[in-house]
Amino acid sequence: MNLVVIGAQWGDEGKGRIVDYMASAADVVIRFSGGANAGHTLVYQGQKYAVHLVPSGILYPDTTVLLGTGMVIDPESLFDELNTLSEQGIDWKGRVLISSRAHIVFPEYKERDRRLDKERKRPIGTTGRGIGIAYSQKAARDGIRLADIFDDSWKEVLSDEENRFLDLYRDQLSDMMVDITSYLHREKPERVLMEGAQGALLDLDLGTYPYVSSGYSAAAGASLGAGIGPRDIDGVLGVFKAYSTRVGNGPFPSEFLPERDGELGEQIQTIGKEFGVTTGRKRRCGYLDLVALKYACRANGIDGLVLTKLDIYDGFDEVSACTAYDIDGTQTDEFPASIDALTNAGPVIKTFPGWKRDISGITEYDQLPEEARRYIEFIEEYCETPITVVSVGPERNQIIIRRELWTEY
Ligand code: GDP
Ligand code: IMO
Ligand code: MG
Repeated sequence: MNLVVIGAQWGDEGKGRIVDYMASAADVVIRFSGGANAGHTLVYQGQKYAVHLVPSGILYPDTTVLLGTGMVIDPESLFDELNTLSEQGIDWKGRVLISSRAHIVFPEYKERDRRLDKERKRPIGTTGRGIGIAYSQKAARDGIRLADIFDDSWKEVLSDEENRFLDLYRDQLSDMMVDITSYLHREKPERVLMEGAQGALLDLDLGTYPYVSSGYSAAAGASLGAGIGPRDIDGVLGVFKAYSTRVGNGPFPSEFLPERDGELGEQIQTIGKEFGVTTGRKRRCGYLDLVALKYACRANGIDGLVLTKLDIYDGFDEVSACTAYDIDGTQTDEFPASIDALTNAGPVIKTFPGWKRDISGITEYDQLPEEARRYIEFIEEYCETPITVVSVGPERNQIIIRRELWTEY
């Protein structure tokens, strides 16, 4: 059984939290795209773990985690992260593997990334982790893959500075490197979980280009990025929050506006603790955007949706969602490709009664207040996709499973 978990919005939907939950029954977790621009938070027994490159199955001592071919890897960030995990008592040695075909991010890429964004007429608001540069180098056939950093002929191609940088990590990387195809063929893991980074709307092809990241964070990226053929993927789960957030620049039709929505934006930002895990930036917040979510479901073949952070609305009198865009006086529920159309889109809002109750301890769907269920069922109907999981808190056990994840997704 091979399952894919992707973000169905603009990132930070709680992918890490869901992968951590599902990984208890996975043999291997493969991160299939992105790099240290991601920040996935796992909370277990009150302890918080933040991972950027390391897949979110790392907390289970018997689970192997693999950094896939679709990733771009900064060795310095990777070993910093692994050292932090060691300090937090996680024994990762021998179970963190890296695809030999993954690309390397050099320190200079990070400076270039930030400089380039400043020079852009329309800055993206990159995390500055060198991701865009690494993927550009890769597409231009000027990058270097992990497999090649050990060969003398490549040492001549790299600068002295790049070689000195790699010298610090070659031995450790060599111990962790695997050919992902041979590995999967040899080990025949029964349950593989493919973990996305970013989100469908930040995908290079499907997202709000040019305000996207440079990897394939959509479900289709899992196949190439994890080295598992598309016919061998059994299901795709899309994670989304009860509202929307976005970090960095780019159109956000349902973004809260103080003049229209009063304090709502500030409240959600504060209660939801919407700060970036990687950069500490405040996340922009808005209504749940169902137009965008339906697009993500269709474009990624999402079998089941995972709703997170429903508990953030516990104290509110009402809960709202964007059900259509108003673009220059015309309403549509299609997600436009044109960035100008998206920028000009205003949200058509539908409001639901709130539940005004603490739901963070509920583990059965029928125990949820009727108002919460009505909100959930409206989303399912609108997106024509079932919500198979509802998360009501950051801890591993604050979760409502409506369908058995490894058999019904
Ligand atoms: P990711 O990048 O998709 O893995 O998400 P992040 O880790 O960047 O952001 C999600 C944040 O929401 C993290 O701080 C999680 O601990 C937290 N979180 C996830 N699910 C829930 C939930 O259901 N309720 C609450 N209150 N917090 C959650
Ligand atoms: P996770 O996996 C939210 C955003 C950045 C910027 C744009 C391009 O934690 O959900 P990049 O550094 O890739 O050049 O940035 O994409 N971005 C994310 N936003 N969550 C992420 O990852 C993101 N990774 C990149 O803020 O707008
Ligand atoms: Mg994140």
